[in-house]
Amino acid sequence: MNERLNILSDRWRDRVAEAVDWLTEKGFTGRVGLILGSGLGNFVDAVDDAQAVEYGDIPGYTTTSVAEHTGRLVCGTAAGVPVVVMQGRLHPYEGLPFDELLLPTAVLACLGIESAIVTNAAGGLNRYYLPGDLMVIRDQIDLHLHDPLRGLLAQPFAPVAGSDAKTAALLAEVGRSGGVADLFDPSLARKLVAAAAESGVPMHSGTYASMYGPAYEAKAEIGMLRRMGCDAVGMSTAPETVLLKRLGVSPVGLSCITNPARETGQPELSHQDVVEVGKMVRDRMARLLLAFLPKV
Ligand code: HPA
Repeated sequence: MNERLNILSDRWRDRVAEAVDWLTEKGFTGRVGLILGSGLGNFVDAVDDAQAVEYGDIPGYTTTSVAEHTGRLVCGTAAGVPVVVMQGRLHPYEGLPFDELLLPTAVLACLGIESAIVTNAAGGLNRYYLPGDLMVIRDQIDLHLHDPLRGLLAQPFAPVAGSDAKTAALLAEVGRSGGVADLFDPSLARKLVAAAAESGVPMHSGTYASMYGPAYEAKAEIGMLRRMGCDAVGMSTAPETVLLKRLGVSPVGLSCITNPARETGQPELSHQDVVEVGKMVRDRMARLLLAFLPKV
């Protein structure tokens, strides 16, 4: 029995297990998982010996309503590393309950990955960020204000899977037995920065805020996020990261800054603009990911 499935609540486990069994039978497994954000899906072209299934064919999966988010799960090797890639994701703004929203992430974890690279398109709050820049996510503020794990775990306050005994004891002492010292893996983040330097890709490092959307932020909200210390804002990633970490997967986050988010006003922003900038930088991002994967 898959150990990670046991962490899930009774009402969720069977649904996740059905998809995991179906995919495992087809040979879907890997060491590193990738979740590709808006306009960034082309990384799958770099996957060798690729096997792909449409989300719609996987038992229990809800298909995305957003045209640009092709929904496929791809398995193969990239830079010699066995990977499972989510090409496209569901978003909280689609209005789905969190058990549906996070089912593909739970399945990804239960396919046996050790680490996950979670990517997204984001607005740049930091004044130094320009469209096309990349940012490694050091930490996040989840402004969905909905704990993504609500109702999804068998034992809500059990220690995080894979956490070492010392960390678990320390967290238990401060009353945070289900908490995490570092949500994003600091050593993976450092390796991603190193891979960026080696591949000549400029890289920022900052805090990601996740909002519901689908409306982009009002000027006053942008001002609030800046004052809260956020460097980039998007509409995904945070719930997935919390779940991955809880299931014992080490997450590393990467934002592609597609537009400046300015409280002084900005040109009207459309989803299409975001996707277009994503397309512009996706080759750079793919190059970076190929340099990073062997270090993971
Ligand atoms: N806000 C929220 N999500 C986004 C943005 C933004 O400005 N750009 C890309 N995704």
